[in-house]
Amino acid sequence: MDSRLSDLSASAPAAIDAADSLEELDAVEQRTIGRTSPVAELRRSLAEIPPEDRPVLGRQIKEVADELTDLIARRRAVLEARAEAALLEADRVDLTLPAVAEPVGTHHLITSSIAELVDIFTGLGYRVADGPEVETGWYNFDALNTPPDHPARAESDTLYVDYGDPADEMLLRTQTSPMQARYMQQHEPPVYVVVPGRVFRNEALDPTHSPVFYQVEGLAVDEGITLGDLKGTLAHFAREFFGPGTRTRFRPHFFPFTEPSAEMDVSCYACDGSGCRVCGGPGWIEILGCGMVDPAVFEAVGYDPDAVTGFAFGIGVDRLAMARHGIRHIRHLWENDVRVLGQFR
Ligand code: DAH
Repeated sequence: MDSRLSDLSASAPAAIDAADSLEELDAVEQRTIGRTSPVAELRRSLAEIPPEDRPVLGRQIKEVADELTDLIARRRAVLEARAEAALLEADRVDLTLPAVAEPVGTHHLITSSIAELVDIFTGLGYRVADGPEVETGWYNFDALNTPPDHPARAESDTLYVDYGDPADEMLLRTQTSPMQARYMQQHEPPVYVVVPGRVFRNEALDPTHSPVFYQVEGLAVDEGITLGDLKGTLAHFAREFFGPGTRTRFRPHFFPFTEPSAEMDVSCYACDGSGCRVCGGPGWIEILGCGMVDPAVFEAVGYDPDAVTGFAFGIGVDRLAMARHGIRHIRHLWENDVRVLGQFR
């Protein structure tokens, strides 16, 4: 055997084995079987030796080259596996580290309360509508059986707007009830609709009053609607919102646009009627006004009061949310302190 070949065959396996990285192995490969290696030189020299010697030397070169190629491939597999393992180790995520939690936003309590209210009524087949916050005196009052000389209109909590025709008495709606009239003018009976919205009154801020607050108006008009329908519907709503054990009570009241009219209380979820700090003592929480639609309202919007009857209600959303969550001052809903708001996910 050619001495260069036997030297190589003797020394190369150890060099291959000693290669500690893929780069080193590449270099060893170059040196042993690459283009400038003894193997390559011997292959080139085949052309210059006597033809009868060629097969023997040729076979020897091939044997050594095959053996080294095989050894290099195996070493490469080992080094690649090691590199892969090192990469995995370096990339490892330490799951025992405490996570850095991103602050997660949430809906405002008023928004989620309205969504929940609307959900309860759409579940009963009601539609949802909304209307303008800047209203005319006609929709906010006249259409609702509250003519200009009516005491309820003279009470000074309406915020008027200096805009448009003064005869229209532009104002910030004091209630969502004007949407009763707007909706009936645009739809034939039967009507089953709820109207969430913001209302405005010239009132000082105190724990339960704010100059801006939210209502959900409800209106049901059909043939043969009775006070029983009103009570059943609103009692269902109360149980859905406050829990199945919730009791309701109706106290006679006055609203110009309903006759008879009532306010509805729910039994306090915290003391179930015996009296506590949440309900402020009486064991009942007032949450809405309601009544049977006054025939004068039907006449104002062009409905025939002899053909249909109906009931209406106005829910105070802020009060409802405060009652359910034991919030004692309405300003907490308006100050946008995320420490307060974040509690109601
Ligand atoms: N609009 C009344 C208010 O703001 C609430 C109300 C009472 C609405 C009785 C109604 C109703 O639809 O029937 O005080």
